[in-house]
Amino acid sequence: MSAISFDPARGVWLLSTPRTSYALRVDDTGAPCHLAWGPRLTLAAAGELVSPPAGEISSFEGRPPAGEELPVDGGTRYGAPSLRVQFADGTRAFEWQPVGHSTGEPSPGTAELALEFCDRHYPLTVVLHYRVHDDSDVIERWTVLRNTSREPLTVLRADSAAWTLPPRDDYRLSHVTGRWSAEGLLHREPVPHGETVLTSRRGITSHHANPWVMLDAGDATEDRGEVWSAALAWSGSWHVTVQRTPDGRTAFTGGAGQDGTALPLGPGEEYTTPRCAALYTDGGFGAASRAWHAHTLAHVLPHPEELRPVLFNSWEATGFDVSESGQKALAGQAAELGVELYVVDDGWFGARRDDTAGLGDWTPAAKGFPDGLTPLIEEVHRLGMRFGLWVEPEMVNPDSDLYRAHPDWVLHFPHRARTELRNQLVLNFARDDVAEWAYGWLTRLVADNGIDFLKWDMNRAFSEAGWPDRAEGQDVLWTRYVHNLYAVIDRLRADHHGLRIETCSGGGGRVDLGILSRTDQAWPSDNTDAADRVSIQHGFSQVYPARAMTAWVTDVPNQLTGRCVPLRYRFHVAMAGVLAIGGDLAHWTAEERAEGAELVARYKEVRHIVQHGTQHRLRGPGDDGPTAVQYTTGDRREAFVLVWQRAPRHGTPLPVLRLAGLDPAARYRDTGTGTVHHASVLTGYGITPDLPRGDWASTSLHLVRVDE
Ligand code: GLA
Repeated sequence: MSAISFDPARGVWLLSTPRTSYALRVDDTGAPCHLAWGPRLTLAAAGELVSPPAGEISSFEGRPPAGEELPVDGGTRYGAPSLRVQFADGTRAFEWQPVGHSTGEPSPGTAELALEFCDRHYPLTVVLHYRVHDDSDVIERWTVLRNTSREPLTVLRADSAAWTLPPRDDYRLSHVTGRWSAEGLLHREPVPHGETVLTSRRGITSHHANPWVMLDAGDATEDRGEVWSAALAWSGSWHVTVQRTPDGRTAFTGGAGQDGTALPLGPGEEYTTPRCAALYTDGGFGAASRAWHAHTLAHVLPHPEELRPVLFNSWEATGFDVSESGQKALAGQAAELGVELYVVDDGWFGARRDDTAGLGDWTPAAKGFPDGLTPLIEEVHRLGMRFGLWVEPEMVNPDSDLYRAHPDWVLHFPHRARTELRNQLVLNFARDDVAEWAYGWLTRLVADNGIDFLKWDMNRAFSEAGWPDRAEGQDVLWTRYVHNLYAVIDRLRADHHGLRIETCSGGGGRVDLGILSRTDQAWPSDNTDAADRVSIQHGFSQVYPARAMTAWVTDVPNQLTGRCVPLRYRFHVAMAGVLAIGGDLAHWTAEERAEGAELVARYKEVRHIVQHGTQHRLRGPGDDGPTAVQYTTGDRREAFVLVWQRAPRHGTPLPVLRLAGLDPAARYRDTGTGTVHHASVLTGYGITPDLPRGDWASTSLHLVRVDE
């Protein structure tokens, strides 16, 4: 059966992914309606789901609030709209009229459906796009609006897609909340009746919520049960509204922007929403996460096949006190540990001696780098490492030459304060001249210095987000900012094929499928305390893969929390992603350096399993017992398990860990002890992790299949 099929008799479209089906039709009123999203169906079976229109129940009901592909503000609809427009004469209430459809295969293994509609009277075209892949159960959706009139119209809301769940007795919502340095706190809570809004109004994805949801019928576990999930590919403000309707159904709609903004759409203009990707799985939250990881590796990250190098970052070691000699010394120590990519963080440019000045003036600080960056970069390369540099292109300190020259380049409203956060203001990247300026100095910086890696930071939320004198309305900045940001990154990547980029926004403030499609890894949090990190990483792993998660080993007492945990534990936690070092190596003892070098070497032996393998969260954080994560190569030849135990209770036995994803008939050798285990024992009965006694115990286990 082809990935997209159509039953003209019933008007049913069926999208098929390897394990799931999605069905819709255009109803008698011309509106696109949802039929099914879940286990595989044939086209004939999907047709059975078409029910005759319900008779009017009362004059207060209207159309059911869940069950449309893109509920509009119009007619007798009273649920959360996905599309709200206002035409030039003030009319709202969009009325669907089908125009046609097209299908295609934009690339091998990918199929697309586009359903085109217009308004019955006003010249507005709405196209619903669907994309499926032959190696992923993710369905991508987006919407294109085209103003075909000679008059402007206003888009008050244009979501990427609405998604309807099948009827179940109950529904539960999983999502993350957080704040700076405490991202990724996972919640699972019943979907309340009414509307639940998850959103960022900060101009960035945000630390406070992340644009993904998982819904289940309240009965899914890590290993079992149906889960419907979705993630937005967007790095600006966003919203997802989850509805539980009075008749007990659940649906959600999501897209870019926040309530209260009005996007002008001029004559002939088109607006394309970001993509919303969604996925149905029936193997619990673990299977949902693994499917997201696989999809992100196959279809999102730019160079998924690469093994990310072990990096060193200078931030916690030197703060703003960055100089050629200091960095050369650190680079030497980092190379001895086995580091492969040396990254100089904040403090290398302009008058940047603390966070009060210099942002915007992107030339090496004369004091710290009298001969520019070249001598340091040459030394880093001589030591056999690649060179990376921190930048924050979207920001300016008022105390900078850039701001003195261009005070109008920042987001601002006339007669309103320009509120500083971290002593900085946001450059209006929606302005083409600002984006061009950023692209110009970045591409020169990378080219002139042979820079291999940029850590692209963004250290404050928007405020007073105005763009005075914009004839078409200031709110255009919310989306144009992100589009220009993406364009600058895309141009940089096109100019410099070897350049790799890390997304950072004061830690995890900008992690989403949109930025991950143009960056190579993400900094999930400024909180590097290994104990806190276990739950931050747990939240990150719900959707995003280990291959995209930078994790530093830093010093104790931790700069943020003051907590002390052993070096081995810190390494073991950081080995769960892309291992990196962020400690002040000058103060590491000889024993610490030896242990660090041993653990870096150990990581290099297993990183292909961590970065490219499938992940099973064997035991999540949250109780007194150990937390454990297993990674397994796609061919099931190797597995690697990390176990972290915070504070065991006397008298509470260590739980056995039942491994997952192994070849059931095979035996596996523990490369540490040489012991050979049957997979049937490892998965069916489990093993007790070999944890040392005491607090902050951790261990790792590397298993290799015994070829009989
Ligand atoms: C942000 C980043 C940190 C570091 C500092 C530098 O907080 O998240 O990792 O780069 O900025 O100012």
